[in-house]
Amino acid sequence: MDRIFSGIQPTGNLHLGNYLGAIRNWVRLQDSYECIYCVVDLHAITMWQNPLELRTSTREVTAAFIASGIDPKKNIIFNQSRNSDHAQLAWVFNCVARLRWLNRMTQFKEKAGKHRENASIGLYDYPVLMAADILAYKATHVPVGADQRQHLELARDIGQKFNNDFGVELFPMPEPIIFGVASRVMSLRNGLQKMSKSDPSDYSRINLKDGREDIALKIRKAKTDSEPLPSEVKGLEGRPEAENLVGIYAALADLQLEDVLAEVGGLPFSQFKQKLTELAVEELGPIGSEMQRLLAQPDEIDKVIRDGGVRAQTLTAPVLAEVFEVMGLVKD
Ligand code: AMP
Ligand code: TRP
Repeated sequence: MDRIFSGIQPTGNLHLGNYLGAIRNWVRLQDSYECIYCVVDLHAITMWQNPLELRTSTREVTAAFIASGIDPKKNIIFNQSRNSDHAQLAWVFNCVARLRWLNRMTQFKEKAGKHRENASIGLYDYPVLMAADILAYKATHVPVGADQRQHLELARDIGQKFNNDFGVELFPMPEPIIFGVASRVMSLRNGLQKMSKSDPSDYSRINLKDGREDIALKIRKAKTDSEPLPSEVKGLEGRPEAENLVGIYAALADLQLEDVLAEVGGLPFSQFKQKLTELAVEELGPIGSEMQRLLAQPDEIDKVIRDGGVRAQTLTAPVLAEVFEVMGLVKD
């Protein structure tokens, strides 16, 4: 059976972009694939994290997975640092990946910004660890948002080079699964910027834990232009905020953009925003309250990721053994 691996960092607030671009798709994939969903805490620490917040956030992301409908028995849910095989394989891959490949990575350039010399080596090496996450399980498919496409290509390059260097067919080439609708949810304050956990303005995003009042307020305050909504998709061109809100609506309602515009074309934003609020509250409300319920029992959450970690390592141990054997690293 094809195997899926994907991960989310336990940093800051999980938001609608994470939900529509990632978690909701993961829920839908669990019936057709063997799925491993990881809270990637080792990726989180590539930027400084407050230890208390990291711990809380790890539980929150786990709770969000479960509250959104991912079954922790049928699938594996765990935190990355629990399975040390990820870090071990990342070291091996550090010796396979080329500087030239990492120098192309746009996410590093964005995250390191102007102070590149001050960025951690971990931040630079981030995509190599991500390749290890995926390939340690010989995962065949990786559902991610569009922003992760480049990292996935790097994972394929690393796997391919390893195979070539040692004349083996050890790693399969993982395929991205990128869902069209909402693969890139934009900030509510700026239709040209991605909705992000790290945006200093909480009005830029709808958090999974937001209640009805917050959701309504944020949508009411969302930036728009002054035209009514168009009736056809091409009318969204050059109107990034309108495109984003209609895209969110379409994703939440599971409709195509055309169908949404056929329904709401001509409406002023004020009315459209009310409809959007209803839809968002209906979908996210139950998830938020289930998260709160789970978070009140942190022991239960910890149990899920502890069990998941053990099951995860039973999958990676044989792969690591194969890697060591092929490379001539002597173990036992
Ligand atoms: P991150 O927040 O960077 O840990 O991302 C976790 C997952 O959510 C990844 O699969 C991302 O591609 C996805 N994601 C993050 N932000 C967005 C967004 N604004 N729109 C769609 N998907 C997103
Ligand atoms: N880099 C991904 C992100 O920021 C998270 C991630 C880490 C991941 N390891 C992964 C995603 C492996 C898919 C597969 O969104």
